[in-house]
Formats: sequence, structure tokens, C-alpha cells
Amino acid sequence: MTILVTGGAGFIGSNFVLDWFKSSDEPVVNLDALTYAGNLENLASLQGDARHVFVKGDICDRALIDHLLAEHQPRAIVHFAAESHVDRSIHGPGAFMRTNVEGTFTLLEAARAYWSALQGEAKSGFRFHHVSTDEVYGSLKPQDPPFAETHAYEPNSPYSASKAASDHLVRAWHHTYGLPVVTTNCSNNYGPYHFPEKLIPLMIVNALAGKPLPVYGDGQQIRDWLYVTDHCSGIRAVLAGGTLGETYNIGGWNEKANIDIVKTVCALLDELRPDPAGPYARLITYVTDRPGHDRRYAIDARKIERDLGWRPAETFETGIRKTVQWYLANEAWVANVQSGGYRDWVSQQYGA
Ligand code: NAD
Ligand code: DAU
Repeated sequence: MTILVTGGAGFIGSNFVLDWFKSSDEPVVNLDALTYAGNLENLASLQGDARHVFVKGDICDRALIDHLLAEHQPRAIVHFAAESHVDRSIHGPGAFMRTNVEGTFTLLEAARAYWSALQGEAKSGFRFHHVSTDEVYGSLKPQDPPFAETHAYEPNSPYSASKAASDHLVRAWHHTYGLPVVTTNCSNNYGPYHFPEKLIPLMIVNALAGKPLPVYGDGQQIRDWLYVTDHCSGIRAVLAGGTLGETYNIGGWNEKANIDIVKTVCALLDELRPDPAGPYARLITYVTDRPGHDRRYAIDARKIERDLGWRPAETFETGIRKTVQWYLANEAWVANVQSGGYRDWVSQQYGA
């Protein structure tokens, strides 16, 4: 038995692979193009581990995927690979259409050809697990109930539109061809190996460097935060027990305003690595808002809780403390990801 993971060198994918081997010896073939967001350092602890086969390659490369499926005969595909950063999608949506839409299409077609030729239990047990986001549902008003699986799709950014398109493709491949799919739509993740272009790691690394902490608009936008290994356990639960063709929302009931997240990070750093220059919150700087910025996301996680018995292991308080501690203990990882490409992005997005 083997699973094929795409995007397993990124933030969530690498956490998923590391977490997988804590409870399973089932091999993982990890296909990742190693874009700016992919980092083999995340997987350094698996070096020499025969259970992990890393393949550098593109999910748009049909011949490569056909070859990997034929060679490794996986019982499941868990599809993380994507362009994932909303701000980058605003500057350059093309890569998002290619990887998130064309890449998912290519993977679905390869999976369909492979699955169609399977027999018996190999065929009935096969799963295509599509990892998606709550952003496909659009933006909530303050009094709206959280997103249930039945919420209409209203994507607002090029990123979320590309993820919504990929969700629709996955749905159609099940409905039309019978491909055995499950989809999960998760809220904002945080934790180790999070690339410091996203809110929480950006605030940690900027604070430690004494740089401004850029808060978009009024900082009152709300996200629903989930510690990354809780997302991983949710995916495992759906992969193992999810009903074919269904979608499952994953979230930890942790709605927080961005400014409160930033203040929490500052307070933890004040405690764990005090700055002689004064409290880190002095670095908070309100900057121009993100165009089309969604105001509020919130996940109704009752379906996965009720049907699959899934619960997050971390509260926001335990998870954010672990996260800050991880960044403090892994300064070499942080230094290594802040390459020339990273610096170019920061100056494009935030100016000099
Ligand atoms: P990430 O940007 O950290 O990692 C993406 C990975 O995909 C990278 O390793 C990258 O090299 C790889 N990749 C990109 N294009 C590729 C291609 N064409 N072929 C092969 N590999 C390619 O993203 P993430 O935050 O880990 O997100 C993983 C998945 O989870 C995405 O599908 C994202 O939409 C979804 N998601 C993310 C969050 C979140 O909060 N980060 C929440 C819900 C859902
Ligand atoms: O909701 C799930 C989504 O969460 C995932 O699908 C995406 O892949 C992931 O990137 C994340 O999207 P967000 O846009 O919510 O994440 P980001 O970390 O970019 O921003 C979180 C909030 O913080 C958002 O309201 C914008 C704000 N922000 C972000 C940055 C980078 C700031 O105020 N300042 C910043 O510098």
C-alpha cells in the first residue's frame, strides 16, 4: 500500500507527510515542483527513510503522473499542490490558473485512467482526496452563521476562484465518471514550516528582525485558525472514513481578528524573547488594505465532528505558543527561506 501526495514539500503537505509517519509505515510518494513555497528542508528528518520517495515534478506533467501511478500503484492520491497565497494571486493570477485549475484537471484525468484500469478491492478502495479552502465560500457578514458545506460558492480573489474551479472539477469527475473523490475545505492553518509570506509567520520573523508588522486596512478582518497538525488529522479522518463525493469543512471554531492575532504574537514574543528596545507591539503598522479583502471566514465543523468523530487536539492558545516556540527554535530554517526571491516579494508587496 502506498499513497501519492502532491505538494508535500509545502507548509501543510510537509506537515502531513511528517505526521503520517508518526502513525503509519505506509509509504508516501511525494510529488512537488519545489516552487518558492516548496522546501525540502521541511522533510530533512526523512532523509534516508525508505518509506518516503520524493519526486521533483509538476502536476501539469501528465506523462510523469501516469508514470508514477503505474510504478507505485497508490491506493490514494492526497492533492495539496497549489499556488496558495492570495496577495501573490492579485499580483500574478496566471500561475494560480495553471497549477490550481490545469494541474488539478491533469491529476484528475491521470487518476481516472489509472482507477478505471484497477480491479476489485484496489478499485473500490481507491480515493482521490482534494485539499481545498474555506475561501471558496467568499466573505461572511458579522452576524452570518459559519460556512457549512452547503454554503454557496462565492470566491472573491484569483486564488479562491482558482480553488473553487478545482473543487468543481473534482465534483464533476465524481458525478460524471464515478471517480471516488472526497474534498476537504479547511480554514486558515498555522504552525511549523509556514512560509513567512503569510500573516502569522510574517509577524514573527518581522518582529524578531525589528521590522514593521504590516496590518492591512483596519485589522478587523476575521479568520478562523486551525493548528496545522489538526488539519492533517482531519484529512486522515476523511481519507479513511469520508463518504465518496462529499465535502467536509475542517475548522477549529477559532475566529480571531487579525489585529488580535498580531497582538497575541507580540505578547508571546515579549514573554519568550523580550526585546530590550521595548514591547514588540510598537512595531504594528497599519498599511493599505488588500484589494477585494474578504472580511470574515468562519467554519462550521459539525459535519466532520459528527460523522467522523474528528476533533482538534490544540486550542488556539496551545497552538500559537507552540508555533512561536518553533520559530524561535528554528532560526536557521527562517534564515534559509528568506532568499533573494523572498526579499524581492517583500519589497514588491510592502515597498522598501
Ligand atoms: P504552500 O504554498 O505552502 O505549498 C504548496 C506546495 O505545492 C509547495 O511545496 C509547492 O512547491 C507545490 N507546488 C506548487 N505548484 C506545483 C505544481 N505545479 N506541481 C507540483 N507541486 C507544486 O501551500 P499550503 O499552505 O501548504 O497549502 C496546501 C494546500 O492546502 C493548498 O491546496 C491550499 O489551497 C490548501 N489550504 C491551505 C490553507 C492554509 O491556511 N495554508 C488552508 C486551507 C487549504
Ligand atoms: O482560509 C484559508 C486560506 O488561508 C488558505 O486557503 C490560503 O492558502 C492561506 O494563504 C490563507 O489565506 P489568507 O489570505 O487568509 O492568509 P494570509 O496569511 O495571507 O492573511 C491572513 C489575514 O491577515 C488576511 O486577512 C490578510 C491579513 N494580512 C496578511 C498579511 C500577509 C495582513 O494584515 N498583513 C499581512 O502582511
